Order: sequence, then C-alpha cells, then structure tokens
Amino acid sequence: MPLTIAIDGPVGAGKSTISDEVARRLGILHLDTGAMYRAVGLATLKAGIDPRNEEAVCDLCEKGGAQVDVRYENGAQMTLLNGEDVSGQIRTQEAGSAASSVSRYVPVRKMLVKRQQEMAAHQPMLLDGRDICTVVLPHAKVKIFLTASAEARAQRRMEQLREKGDMTPFEEVLREVNARDLQDTTRALDPLRKADDAHLVDSSNLTFEETIQAILNLVEESYGK
Ligand code: DC
Repeated sequence: MPLTIAIDGPVGAGKSTISDEVARRLGILHLDTGAMYRAVGLATLKAGIDPRNEEAVCDLCEKGGAQVDVRYENGAQMTLLNGEDVSGQIRTQEAGSAASSVSRYVPVRKMLVKRQQEMAAHQPMLLDGRDICTVVLPHAKVKIFLTASAEARAQRRMEQLREKGDMTPFEEVLREVNARDLQDTTRALDPLRKADDAHLVDSSNLTFEETIQAILNLVEESYGK
C-alpha cells in the first residue's frame, strides 16, 4: 500500500495549507477533497440550482452535469469542473457554503469518495477533508484530526479574507464558522467526527511550523525515518 496520510478537521483549521506543506516536505501529492465538493457546489450555482434542493442537485450529478476531476501541475492541485479549471472560482464563501449543502447528498459523496479512493490507491498521497479517516481511507497508516478553537479558526479565516480585500467583520466570520461546523457535524451522512484511532492535533496555540512538525513526527512514528 502506498504511503497514505489522512487528515480530517473542521473549516478553518488550516488543513489545506498545512497539508500542502507536509506533502511538499514528504515529496508526495496532496489531494484537497474539499475542493472537489466545492466544484460540485459551484456546478449547482452555475446551473442556477439551489444547492439545498436535493432532488435538483442529484439530478444534475446523475446527468453528468457536475464532472469533477483533479490534475497536478508541478505538484499543485488543479480542480476541474466539466473540463474547466475552476481552482480559483471555488474559493468564494458562496462556493464553500454550496459545497457544505451538496456534501449531504448520497450520490455526490459516492461519486467523489470513489474518485478519491482510486487516486490514493495508485500513488503516495496525503488527503485532507472531513471523512478521510472515517470513510475514504479507514485503513490509512497515519490518521490525524486537525482542529483549533472556533475563535482561532475565525481569526485565521478573517486574515485570509482581508488579504483578498474582503473586510467581513470577525463576528460574521465566526458565525459562518459555527454554522459550517454545525452543518458538517450534524449531517446524517458521514458527519465530521474524529475517528477513534486518529491522532488529535489542536493547533489553537501552535505556530504553523509547530503544527507541521507535530504531523511530521506522527508520520515518522508510523513509518519510521
Ligand atoms: O474544506 P472545505 O471548506 O474546502 O470544504 C467544503 C465543504 O465540503 C465542507 O463544508 C464540507 C464538505 N466536505 C466534505 O463533506 N467531505 C470532505 N471530505 C471534504 C469537504
């Protein structure tokens, strides 16, 4: 079995940037599975469908109107929707909450989980998401639940938004973080939860580098040097 690292955690825990850096240092590819759900969310918005309309979303997927693919260019993930590179378009708040809605539906999850498992079966990879340790790769050798307090996550999220010129106030970002947590942890299908055998990494009081080191130490413990 190729080297596989599974990382789950709530929104804003820094999963994407941390995962990117850990994968880079280990010389393996990083699959940001949230990007795939965001692409399906974006597909509904582009098609003028309400992402909370289960029937319409499932119909779109079944008719092949939300084909998600992932490619790598110089190690960086490129997310494609129906052949179009949507890596930039999926990074809006709107696409994020559409993703959270569509990720509740069985056909969406089935389609994406299958693709993620196929990719991880063929090459060493680090996958991050909400259900990687519990559903996608339950037998991964390294399983991590990366989290931080809601306030710390909202603060980091707000700083990211500021960099893009988005001045959304802290209270609103915190409300959004709490709403996403509630939706992701209470959905009926594969809700976000820490797998019993996953290591907990709480980055609330850790720097970026300390968080990277904590994860690399866990990888080393499992695979040796
Ligand atoms: O990590 P993110 O914010 O890009 O994820 C967007 C949404 O996709 C998130 O609200 C929940 C969903 N998601 C999921 O259900 N399962 C995953 N493995 C990854 C993301």
